[in-house]
Parts: sequence; structure tokens; C-alpha cells
Amino acid sequence: MKKIIAIFGICSLIFACTSGQKSEGTEDTSTVTAPAETTQGATATAGSLKGEQLISSSDCLTCHKVDAKIVGPSYADVAKKYPATDENIEMLASKIIAGGSGSWGEIPMAPHPAISIDDAKEMVKYILSLKTK
Ligand code: HEC
Repeated sequence: MKKIIAIFGICSLIFACTSGQKSEGTEDTSTVTAPAETTQGATATAGSLKGEQLISSSDCLTCHKVDAKIVGPSYADVAKKYPATDENIEMLASKIIAGGSGSWGEIPMAPHPAISIDDAKEMVKYILSLKTK
């Protein structure tokens, strides 16, 4: 019997919340949809731009620069070493996540377990696109 009362209580709470939100939400849908247009406009350049943003919002730049070696190799050197094939993108993306050493020297690359494989691939695509510079 107590359970039924509890379920009733939860139901009426949920109902009270959702019905309250609905009446508030309908009024300002026009302001909510407006920013979507600006993000759509950016999709044309999204490919490597996303990778660049991911890299600058992570810790990568403390050890890597585009055109100079710091702790890790410069991204331009990485781009020179690896052609942008699917296999290399996969391999480098998993290296960003797992870390490791041996390709450039003894100093290991820090692991980044919080980065998703898709984000890591975007980063690699950006890095490998720097070859032409
Ligand atoms: C603590 C310093 C450090 C940080 C932080 C770091 N790296 Fe590195 N990175 C290295 C070192 C050192 C190497 C060379 C590893 C080796 O010799 O295999 C490396 C190598 C790489 C390589 C080439 C891997 C290979 O096998 O040739 C890529 C790509 C790379 N880093 C991307 C990134 C990205 C993207 C981030 C940010 C998410 C990042 N790194 C953060 C130190 C770092």
C-alpha cells in the first residue's frame, strides 16, 4: 500500500513539473531556434576546424606546436611522416587515447582516455592536413 502512495506521489510530481515547463517553453521558441542558423553556416569548414578546436581545448599544445618540436614532434613533422590514409588516422587516433612512445624517441606521449575515438580522429585529420604548410 505504501508503494502505491509513493508511485502516486512521484507521478503527480512529474506531472506538475512537465506541465509547468510546457507552458513556459511555448512562448520563447523563436529565440531558441535563432542560434541554430549560425552553427549551420559554419558546417562548410567543419572538417578540420573541429579537430583544431578539440586540440586547442585539450592539453595537446603544452607538448606540441604546429611548426616546432617541444616535448612531442611538431604537427607539421607528424603530417610529413604519415600520409592521411584511413589506417594512419585510426592508428594515430588510438595512440592519442592510449599514449605511447617509440615513433619519435624515448619520451612517451601522455594517454588521453577521456577523448572519444571520433574526436581523436578529428584531431588527427587536422594534424595531417598541416602537411601543405
Ligand atoms: C605530455 C606531453 C604530450 C601531450 C600532452 C600530448 N602529446 Fe602527443 N606526443 C608526445 C610525445 C613525446 C610524442 C612522441 C611519441 C613517440 O615517440 O612515439 C607524441 C606524439 C604524438 C603524435 C604522433 C604519434 C606517432 O606515433 O607518431 C600525435 C598524432 C600526437 N602526439 C597528438 C597529440 C594530441 C592530439 C594531443 C592532445 C590530445 C597530444 N598529442 C598531447 C607528447 C605529448
